[in-house]
Amino acid sequence: MVKVNHVVKNYTIGKLEVHALRGVDLEIKDGEFMSIAGPSGSGKTTLLNLIGCLDACTGGDILIDGESIGGKKRDERALLRRRKIGFVFQSFNLIPVLTAYENVAFALSLLKTGPGETRERTMKILEEVGLTGLEKRFPNELSGGQQQRVAVARALVKKPTLVLADEPTANLDSDTGREILKLMEDLNRTHGTTFVFSTHDPMVMDFAHRLVLLHDGAIVSDKAKK
Ligand SMILES: Nc1ncnc2c1ncn2[C@@H]1O[C@H](COP(=O)(O)OP(=O)(O)OP(=O)(O)O)[C@@H](O)[C@H]1O
Ligand SMILES: [Mg+2]
Repeated sequence: MVKVNHVVKNYTIGKLEVHALRGVDLEIKDGEFMSIAGPSGSGKTTLLNLIGCLDACTGGDILIDGESIGGKKRDERALLRRRKIGFVFQSFNLIPVLTAYENVAFALSLLKTGPGETRERTMKILEEVGLTGLEKRFPNELSGGQQQRVAVARALVKKPTLVLADEPTANLDSDTGREILKLMEDLNRTHGTTFVFSTHDPMVMDFAHRLVLLHDGAIVSDKAKK
């Protein structure tokens, strides 16, 4: 479903060129639960942002369900992202003035979903992530783990084919982090949604069914684990 072909990404800062990805090839199949791991600066966020259509490749191309994103304009990439991809971030990135319910429902409003269906789908996914009863709380009235559950619900509510999570447990203690990973694993099993999460934490890598290691902008190992 996702094909990364010889992807190169350079960033330019003044006269300096940073080679963030140096020719990455990767195939992600439907329903995978995989981790992209590697030390700080190895290119994890860069790779997730490119797969997630948040940024454009310097060289090479990425195909999502056979559609090349390389040739697409910015707004076409945004449309593809809105339809197919859910994001979970390290710092949760919830909208502070919206409640848990509203943060999740907002993702559907962008897809022009009707009010009845929005309510039904939002309540159902909030129940699945274990937040029933907390729908009316604002992000600052929730624990870190609960906020990340809202973020996972927000990513899943639009039924994306792919969820990208950039260090989703980095701001959580290890028990809470483990709960979030278990939740994502459950959702991967029950919904068949593909999950790709980045990390440099060995405990988090352990959860992955497939582990891809990045080093200095290149893949140095790719192992099926479960
Ligand atoms: N916007 C940017 N402008 C310039 N250089 C960047 C930019 N974003 C990332 N880089 C550089 O690209 C390289 C890869 O960065 P990236 O953020 O992808 O690494 P990472 O593996 O996610 O690291 P971390 O574990 O610290 O999050 C690094 O050398 C980084 O400094
Ligand atoms: Mg990063």
